Amino acid sequence: MAERILVVDDQTAMQDLLTDLLEQRGAEPVAVGTVADGLEMVSKSPDAFDLVILDLDFGEGQTSGLAGLEEIKKINPSLPVVILTGKGTISTAVEAIKLGAQEYVEKDFYIEENMELALTRLNHLIRATIDNKRLRREREFYREELKGQYNIVGKSRVIQQVHQQIAEVASIPRPVLIRGERGTGKELVAAAIHNNSNRQKRAFITINCAALAEGLLECELFGQEDNAFTNSSFREGRFVLADKGTLFLDEIGNMSVEFQQKILRVLEYQQFERVGGTKTIKVDVRVIAATNGDMEADIEAGKFRADLYDRLAFETIWLPPLRERKEDIELLCYHFMERLAGEVANIKPKKLAPETLECLNAYNWPGNVRELKYVIERITYKVDGDTISPRHLPQEILTAYSRSGDGEPLSNRLAQVEKQILMDVYEQCQGELEDIARQLSLPFESLKQLMQKHQIDDAQ
Ligand SMILES: Nc1ncnc2c1ncn2[C@@H]1O[C@H](COP(=O)(O)OP(=O)(O)OP(=O)(O)O)[C@@H](O)[C@H]1O
Ligand SMILES: [Mg+2]
Repeated sequence: MAERILVVDDQTAMQDLLTDLLEQRGAEPVAVGTVADGLEMVSKSPDAFDLVILDLDFGEGQTSGLAGLEEIKKINPSLPVVILTGKGTISTAVEAIKLGAQEYVEKDFYIEENMELALTRLNHLIRATIDNKRLRREREFYREELKGQYNIVGKSRVIQQVHQQIAEVASIPRPVLIRGERGTGKELVAAAIHNNSNRQKRAFITINCAALAEGLLECELFGQEDNAFTNSSFREGRFVLADKGTLFLDEIGNMSVEFQQKILRVLEYQQFERVGGTKTIKVDVRVIAATNGDMEADIEAGKFRADLYDRLAFETIWLPPLRERKEDIELLCYHFMERLAGEVANIKPKKLAPETLECLNAYNWPGNVRELKYVIERITYKVDGDTISPRHLPQEILTAYSRSGDGEPLSNRLAQVEKQILMDVYEQCQGELEDIARQLSLPFESLKQLMQKHQIDDAQ
C-alpha cells in the first residue's frame, strides 16, 4: 500500500520539490498551502494520512506550524509529523519535537537528502501505522460481516451441524481446517469461529496463500526487517498482527513442502523470525485454514505434509456442496435479495415463482453459494416485476432443468419450459404479439404456431 503523505507549506516551489521527491519514493503526496487547510483534511478523516510534513513558518497573521502541530496531535496522536524549519528556527524545531513531532528537516541546500534520511528513519513507524490501520479496517469489516445480516443461512441438517461445530470449537485455542468446494462459505465459517471465540475483540487477519508467490507470502506472514532485500521496507507480518487473535490461512493446499515446514513450526511453537531478521518472535495466534483441494490425494502424492495436516485438522469442518443441501436454496435466495435491497435504496426483494424454485433445485451449482448469490443479485436488480419467473434465469439453469426430468421424456420437459417462457413474456407484453415476437426474436408466424401448440389464448 502506498504511503499517503500530507505536505503543508505555503511556498509552491517547496510543495513541488517535496511532491516530486515523495512520488519518486512511491508515496501518494497531497499538498496544501495553509495550516487551516491541512487541519481541515486531517480532522475530516484522521486516518487518511500516514505522515504529515509541516512547515513551521507561514508568515505574519497566519496560523503557525507549531499551533498546527498541537492540533494534529490532538486529533490523531499516532500520526507521525516531520517539521520543516527555515534558517534560525532551530529552537522552534526543538519545541516541535517536544510537542510530538518525530523529525525535523532544515530547508537548505541538502533538503532532499535530509528528507530521504528522515523518511528512512521513520519507515518503521509509518509501516506500523499503515499495518495498524489495515488491521482495524479488516476487524471492522468482519464485525459488520457478522452483525446478523451476513450470518450463515440455511436450515439443512448439515448447516445446523456446522453451527454446532462452530459453537463447540470456537473457544478451543487449536487450529481448525475448513474444507469444501469453492463458494461453499468457508471464509464465512472462519469468521464465525473467530466471532464466537473469546478472541472476538482481537484481530481476525486473513491471507490467501495461493494468491502470493512463496517469497512474498513468507514476508506477509512472518514480516520482514528493514532492507531484508534491496530497497525493501519493514513489514510487521500477519502473525504479529493477529497476535491474541485469529489468523485465517485461506487456500492452504498449494504451498511447497519446505514452506509447509515453516508453518508447522509456528503452529507448534508459536514462534518464528522475520525475513532478514534473527530475533525470535513469540505470538499467541489461533490459526484457521481452508482448502478446496483433495488433501488425502496431496498427502499421498507427497505434496502436502502429513504432520502439518494432522496439526491443522485438530477439528475439521466440512461444508458440503450446495447441490447436496438444496433445502437451503430458497432461504439463501431470500437472504441475498433482502441484503441487496438493504444496500440499494430502490431495489425491493422479490418473490420466487414455484417453477423458478424447481429450476434452481434442478441445477447442480458448480460455484455453490457464491454462484447462487450472483445469479439472484443480478436478477433482483434487473427484473422489474415483483416475481422471479423461470424466464429470468440464466440459460444454463434452464437447460439443466429441461434435462432433469424425473423419467419424463425430454421433449415434455422442454415443452414445459417453452410454455412457461411464452406465458411470462405474454403477460409482460400484455398480449401484444408483435412485442412478444420481438422479445423472443421469433418470426411472427412461428410465434402464432407456438401459441397454438401451447393453447395460449390469442385474444386478438
Ligand atoms: N450459508 C451461507 N449463508 C449466507 N451466505 C453465504 C453462505 N455460504 C456462503 N455465503 C456467501 O457466499 C459467498 C461465498 O462464500 P465464501 O467466500 O465464504 O466461500 P469460500 O468457500 O471461501 O469460497 P472460495 O473457496 O471460492 O474462496 C460469500 O459472499 C458468502 O457471504
Ligand atoms: Mg474463500
